[in-house]
Amino acid sequence: MQTRTWRDSLAKTQYVMDSVLLIGFILVCIPKVTGIWAHEWLSLLFIIPLIIHLLLHWDWMVALPKNFIHRQSNKDRFNAIWDALFYLVMLMATVSGFLVSEALLPQLGLPVDILPVWSKLHHDLVIWLCQCLAYTLLCIGLG
Ligand code: HEM
Repeated sequence: MQTRTWRDSLAKTQYVMDSVLLIGFILVCIPKVTGIWAHEWLSLLFIIPLIIHLLLHWDWMVALPKNFIHRQSNKDRFNAIWDALFYLVMLMATVSGFLVSEALLPQLGLPVDILPVWSKLHHDLVIWLCQCLAYTLLCIGLG
């Protein structure tokens, strides 16, 4: 019988966390189904698996700048830029989400003055995010 190494366990944990992240992201993307209250609390909770995901891929992130310059193929470089863009837009979508909070922040005693510009930004960013995710899943599916 083969002995399981810590690398096997790490790969399994990464797989489970990636699945949690994907399901969480899909739930966050359907506020019309979940309702705004659940959308906002889910978005806040979503930050936890997102941070765990980043920590589980910490080695990859630390090695990225060096690999990007010296070792990677053009396809890997494109993927690295794509990932970085995805995270940046995700961050901006989350920040703009807090700026248009109708349930979570008022419930915590922090009512926000919602400006139309933030609503538009949140709307535009999440549309872009959903398109990016669809493209990424398509690429993974096509290998
Ligand atoms: C990655 C994070 C997030 C994603 C992917 C996301 C996704 C979405 C989507 C798809 C919509 C519907 C857009 C539309 O129909 O115009 C929406 C609307 C909304 N989101 Fe988020 N959201 C995120 C974070 C947040 C956060 C953190 C909050 C607040 C705490 C929030 C509050 C809202 C509100 C209040 C609306 C309704 C806005 C309106 O109708 O003008 N979102 N979000």
